[in-house]
Amino acid sequence: MEELLRGLEGLLGEVREKLSGSPDPQAAEALRLQALGRRGRLNEYFSRLSEPQWNPKERSALGQRLNAVKKELTQLFDERLTQRPGASRGPHLDLTLPGFCPPAGRLHPLTQTTDRITAIFRGLGFSAVEGPEIETEENNFEALNIPADHPSRESFDTFYLQSLPKLLLRSHTSPVQIRFMKAQGPPFKIVVPGRVFRRDAVDASHCFQFHQVEGLAVGPGITFGDLKGTLLAWAKQMFGGQARLRFRPHYFPFTEPSAEGDLACSLCQSRGCSVCGQKGWLEILGCGMVHPAVFKAVGFPAGTVGFAFGMGVERIAMLKYGINDIRLFYENDIRFLQQFP
Ligand code: PHE
Repeated sequence: MEELLRGLEGLLGEVREKLSGSPDPQAAEALRLQALGRRGRLNEYFSRLSEPQWNPKERSALGQRLNAVKKELTQLFDERLTQRPGASRGPHLDLTLPGFCPPAGRLHPLTQTTDRITAIFRGLGFSAVEGPEIETEENNFEALNIPADHPSRESFDTFYLQSLPKLLLRSHTSPVQIRFMKAQGPPFKIVVPGRVFRRDAVDASHCFQFHQVEGLAVGPGITFGDLKGTLLAWAKQMFGGQARLRFRPHYFPFTEPSAEGDLACSLCQSRGCSVCGQKGWLEILGCGMVHPAVFKAVGFPAGTVGFAFGMGVERIAMLKYGINDIRLFYENDIRFLQQFP
């Protein structure tokens, strides 16, 4: 019994001494197997527990000591494992495991398109400003030369606020023209990205909310030629150097003359396809020279000149990315959104 206990203490001392000599990891592992392995020295002692020479008391004392030594040895090796240089105490850290990458968020395709449109106009000398989504009838209509009985009010199917009937959800970004000109005189060039609202029934190409980018340039000598040149320079950056624009006469109360701008359909080279409805051209904007009545409403002197335009962001995004249903923008289906890195 004495001899066996001495042997055990010897094993413990030996391991302690060797481990304190900071052996390399392989040597430490070899030592661990030697002491604690299945055929190691400690198990040899354990197997001697069943020898017939021990009376029950001795066997129990020996067993207790064996278990204590086993616990101590295990602890010694564990400490050794977690105390390697660079390793912190605590659970073993496997630096070779692949990292956990949380999925990265990204900007909504409409945000990306709006940002791109605005960035191009910044490059052409425009500043970006914003205005509120809740507007007055004055800014949304009257000051833009659309009096209450004007037939074109019907084309802006407007949401009015129930509690405050004089307030509405803006039906275009043009009221920001009025806000800006009431605050600042010419010359200036601004673009106004923003959300607008109309009481449209939802289908593949309509929604009760959509986005526009408004443009307004006011200064001496500005002509319709400047308007066309600016929009063409923008279109070539937005859609590539081969992009072509066409201007069709149109009517807006707040511009005169007015036009609608069509982009040549790039899918069919203007030959006509299902995307452009066999027309070869796609309408993307309204524009014109600012009507004198608008300048009068904001108190600018007679003879002030400038151009304005308003483009539909959804339309432009649909053309740019080949999207055939406007509702995809608002459903927030991750499989759709992930396609716009
Ligand atoms: N506000 C017009 C619309 O929403 C677009 C437009 C803006 C037309 C500026 C001309 C000048 O339809």
